[in-house]
Amino acid sequence: MNLGSPNRVEHQLTDKGYVPVYTTAVVDQPWSKYTSTDHEVWSTLFKRQREILVGRASDEFLRTQEAMGMTPDRIPKYDDLNRMLRKATGWELVGVEGLLPELTFFDHLANRRFPVTWWIRKPEQLDYLAEPDLFHDLFGHVPLLMNPVFADYMQAYGRGGVKAHGIGPEALVNLTRLYWYTVEFGLIKQDDGLRIYGSGIVSSKGESIHCLDSAAPNRIGFDLERIMRTQYRIDTFQKTYFVIDSYEQLMDATRPDFTPIYASLAQHEAIPAGTVLDTDTVFNRGTGEGWATDGDV
Ligand code: PHE
Ligand code: CO
Repeated sequence: MNLGSPNRVEHQLTDKGYVPVYTTAVVDQPWSKYTSTDHEVWSTLFKRQREILVGRASDEFLRTQEAMGMTPDRIPKYDDLNRMLRKATGWELVGVEGLLPELTFFDHLANRRFPVTWWIRKPEQLDYLAEPDLFHDLFGHVPLLMNPVFADYMQAYGRGGVKAHGIGPEALVNLTRLYWYTVEFGLIKQDDGLRIYGSGIVSSKGESIHCLDSAAPNRIGFDLERIMRTQYRIDTFQKTYFVIDSYEQLMDATRPDFTPIYASLAQHEAIPAGTVLDTDTVFNRGTGEGWATDGDV
């Protein structure tokens, strides 16, 4: 049975290029309508990533993903995951068609609701998809919502987003960079080495290997204002990854009111995605091999 296409409303020019923006509606997950191909795509990606992520993803990510009961057998039901999540941290998943307008997205997070795209990619899209689908959202984002500190960080981010939206577009650019370099592409330092916690990495086979094993990218210690000034890549692997010491560090660093920070950042130029500064704590200075010379956003 064909599920049809998601309910896309328009393409919008954002700092990420032209992206489809979908209806803001919350929808029930059409679980009984997933095809055997949909379940197979989930299964293939799930097994492939779990294998790659042993020794690469953070211990906490692997542990929380197991604790939620996600398995390769079939696409998880949001209702089942919600029972675990509500108990652990009070978060809940809501189904959506895809990318939401910024303010709608922030409002969900501020109320401890995580929007999850209901549809999954096609078999020919296993390695790359330009927009988030169910695999990215569920496999990548949802496990760490079981962790109380990370769960609080996500809600605080949503509240901060509502506020930044009221301040203006530059503030939103600063805040979006923070999301990108932590929630989507963050690394964490464990006693036994660097590990991945960013959702954009854990849901990608290529980048899961590249971000830790390649000499090309920079790996630099977390620094809030530095990150908020740093451009990023939307169509290639990142040139730079930022490393946190702990989820508590994220929470503590983002506790202060950002209003004066936004004002001060407005006086500074953006930093290109691949630049290393004298003030950086450098885990790896990237060789820059294979880097595109344009296209930082
Ligand atoms: N403290 C930030 C502010 O005042 C909000 C925030 C929290 C932003 C956590 C990002 C992450 O805007
Ligand atoms: Co994402």
